[in-house]
This record gives sequence, structure tokens and C-alpha cells, in this order.
Amino acid sequence: LSVLSVASELFPLIKTGGLADVAGALPGALAAQGIATRSLIPGYPRVLRALEAAEPVLDLGPLFGGPARLLAATAAGLDLLVLDAPHLFDRDGGPYAGLDGQDWPDNPQRFAALAQVAARLGQGALPGFLPDVIHAHDWQAGLVPAYVHYWEGRKPGTIFTVHNLAFQGQCDASLLAELSLPPQAYSIHGVEYYGAIGFLKAGLKLADRITTVSPTYAAEIRTREGGMGLDGLLRDRAGALSGILNGIDTDVWDPANDPALPAPYTAETLHAREASRRALRARLGLHEGREAPLLGIVSRLSWQKGMDAVLEALPALLGHGMQLAVLGAGDRGLEEGFERAAAAHQGRVGLHLGYNEGLAHLIQGGCDALLVPSRFEPCGLTQLCALRYGALPVVARVGGLADTVIDANEMALAAGVGTGIQFSHASRDALEAALARLAALWQDRPAWEKVQRNGMATDVSWARPARHYAALYRAVAPGRVPRV
Ligand code: ADP
Ligand code: GLC
Repeated sequence: LSVLSVASELFPLIKTGGLADVAGALPGALAAQGIATRSLIPGYPRVLRALEAAEPVLDLGPLFGGPARLLAATAAGLDLLVLDAPHLFDRDGGPYAGLDGQDWPDNPQRFAALAQVAARLGQGALPGFLPDVIHAHDWQAGLVPAYVHYWEGRKPGTIFTVHNLAFQGQCDASLLAELSLPPQAYSIHGVEYYGAIGFLKAGLKLADRITTVSPTYAAEIRTREGGMGLDGLLRDRAGALSGILNGIDTDVWDPANDPALPAPYTAETLHAREASRRALRARLGLHEGREAPLLGIVSRLSWQKGMDAVLEALPALLGHGMQLAVLGAGDRGLEEGFERAAAAHQGRVGLHLGYNEGLAHLIQGGCDALLVPSRFEPCGLTQLCALRYGALPVVARVGGLADTVIDANEMALAAGVGTGIQFSHASRDALEAALARLAALWQDRPAWEKVQRNGMATDVSWARPARHYAALYRAVAPGRVPRV
């Protein structure tokens, strides 16, 4: 079976969040299921620079006001197709916004271009490549199912995966023709969304199957509270919607073999984590001491991630004698909050603002527990890394966090199965209660280490999820089961 994956980010070439990790790791795991994946991504400067031998394979003609072509390359074990369209993608800044943080005004055209090229590939535009299925990720690829649906020609199966319902990608209805969508597409059954064109809505409405990245999030988004305006549509399509948990790349995230750690360790050599803890403390200017756990955060600093609740619970955290190591970037107000906290509690709150791959690994290897107090979390990857690295995840019981961490409550401990701590929701009170439980567990070293080892024994790889995706691809490949 042959699959075209379409995403706007791909680790290790370009990443702003977990989407890149998923798009970068899933193809390798699918290969073991007999599925060959080619990944289509935009030719951002960073991507083109990273690809030494990219070969032009298809002239795409003019696309939204400039010439475009398709390049083929391999990198990091990935079979890549790169949309090289300099007028759309060759700019300084991020994949979605300029250096000033403002979204690119032509994002609708940029990502419609990506989706159109995917649909053309689905029709067989590239000789020798005929994908059975197109797997489109998030709003940036949301128009893929729309083009496959409305355009004439060969129709591969379509899977649309939503990684975060909060980012919906909308544009003015007047762009319909410019985006090469026929008039009948502008309907409640098509791309129309509250009087505009909705990219995410189009993907959710028109794909053969919809997935999201955890079973609990799949249930949450069908409710008014969690549906962000799309719950009605998702209830209608409940039969086509499933939740498939993410994995992590267990080669990239392997404490027994991680160049970012000063010493390797396994579940049998937990004492060797001490070297990473020391290195982390030195790096962030934290005092030595083992009387209370060192907590870590690796996160976008945003409302979604509940970072304001961390700042509110900080006095309680420090009251337990705990320390906090924070790596993150995001909302300026939260960045300033953490800057103030680090200045006020030198040696006890360590902070690195920005994006840093190596430090993310060192925090996972060096902290005793990782805080993930999200308000909502489609899946979350950092808690999976924490499980693998022997850092106890302390998570809000939402979305994928609810599905991936087993709360080490009294009965779980008695049964020997807990892997972390869950608390009800991202609020100061709930987080403080969780910290009190963590402090109590810390006093019982054998119990703490048992929870650590349980976490490290958990299968967080892509093997299991890849089997679910493989089954879904087989179900929607042309000539199989009809559309639900
Ligand atoms: P989201 O995609 O919502 O931000 P995830 O937990 O799914 O959340 O994925 C976040 C990914 O980005 C993880 O791989 C995490 O390690 C990484 N990450 C987040 N913030 C940083 C940062 N400041 N520096 C390095 N890596 C980060
Ligand atoms: C999104 C979600 C996150 C998820 C990631 C990868 O960024 O916020 O929960 O893990 O996508 O699926």
C-alpha cells in the first residue's frame, strides 16, 4: 500500500510542535507494516537548506502567482516530496508567521497550494507514483479532502488527522474561485464555515475517515465544551472518527543512547540519572540537594498548556522544597511571569526561554517529575518522553494525558501499575493537591522507583499506533469499504 502524507511540519527538518514529531516518525513505523509513505512538505528555506541532493521531478507550472516545482529527496529515512514555490515559502520567519509574529497574510493561498499539489499527486501527476491513500494533517492540509472530493479524476482514499481543534484556518469566502474550489463547495456540506471558508472544517467534513490523536480527545471534541464550534459536525461524523494515540520516536528518545545526556541509563541503572540531574542544575543555575523532587517543564507557554496555573501554584511547589526547571517559549505574558519567578527564586526556579532540542532531552533525563497541566491536550508527547526517561509525569486528566498516564493512586500502587500522577484539571487547587501527592510519594522511595520503572516499561513507541493507521489505510484505499 502506498500513502502520501501531507503536513506543514516534519521533524527533523522543520518543527514548531508535536505535529512535526508525528509526521516525522509515523512513516518509519508504517514501513514495518508494509506501507510505503512519501511525505509532502513545503519548501521552506530551512527545509531546502537541509536537503543536499534534492532532485526536481515535476514542473507544477504557475501556482498562485509564481512558478512551482516538486523536488524529491531523502532525509532522516524519509521519502520526501518538497513543494518548491519560492514566492510562497522562501521567506525569513516561521512556517506560519513572519519574524514579527504576525501570520503570513497569504497563508490560505500557501496551504491551498500544498493541498492542491497533494490532490494532483493523488490523480497520478507524478509518473510512477500512485498513492492509494492521502493522509492529511491539520488545517494546513485541510483542503486535501476537498480537492479530492470536488475535482474530477482519480480519487485516492483520504484520512484527515486533527492534532489540535484550536487551530482552524479560515479565510474569506470571496477566495473560493481563487482557491480552485467550485461554487457548490461553498455549502454547509462542503468548505463553508460560519460564512467563511474553513480549512479544518473542510478536512473534517470531506475526508473518508477522521482521526485525532487520542481516544479521550476523540470523545471530548464531540461535546459542546470541547468541540470549539465543530462538535455538531463531529457528532454527525462519529462513525468515521477514531482516536489513535501518538507514539514517540524511541531512537530519538532513548536514555540508554542519548548524546544530550552526560551519562546513559536504563531502568536497571536509575542511579545514573544523577549525572543528568547535576548537568541540568548546572545548566539552569539550580542549587544541589535531594530532599525534594526537581520538577521539569518542556512546553509551549500558552493557555492550552495551563502554564498560568503553574505560576499560581509556585509558592506551594517551593513550599515543598521542590525546584522547577522550565524550557519553553510562547505568550509574552507567561514568558514574563516565568522570568519574574526565576529572578525572585534564584537557584530554585531555572528558566530557558526559547526552543532547544538538547535541553529538552536533558530536562527529561535530569528532572524527577515532568509537569503537564494542560487545559486540553489532544495527545501530548512530552509525557510520553517522560515515561521513557524515568521522569514521573504529573498531568491534568484531559485528552491524551488521561489515556497515557496511569495515576499512581493507592490501589494502583497496591496493584503495582501506576506510572505517574493525574489531577482533575488545570487549576491552582488541583495542581497543588497533585504536588502534595507527589511530595508524599517522594518520601516512599521504593514506591517512587516502582512508578519510575513502570513508566520506563511502558510501550510508547509507534509500533501499536502504526498498526491502527495501517488498518485504517487499508479500509479506505480505493476498492475497499465505502465511505462512512
Ligand atoms: P504541542 O504540539 O501541543 O506543542 P506536544 O507535547 O505534542 O505539544 O509536542 C511538543 C513537542 O515539542 C515535543 O517534542 C517537545 O519536546 C517539543 N518542545 C516543546 N517546547 C520545546 C522547547 N521550548 N524546546 C524544545 N522542544 C520543545
Ligand atoms: C498538537 C497537540 C498535541 C499533540 C500534537 C501531535 O500540537 O497540541 O497534544 O501531541 O499535536 O499530535
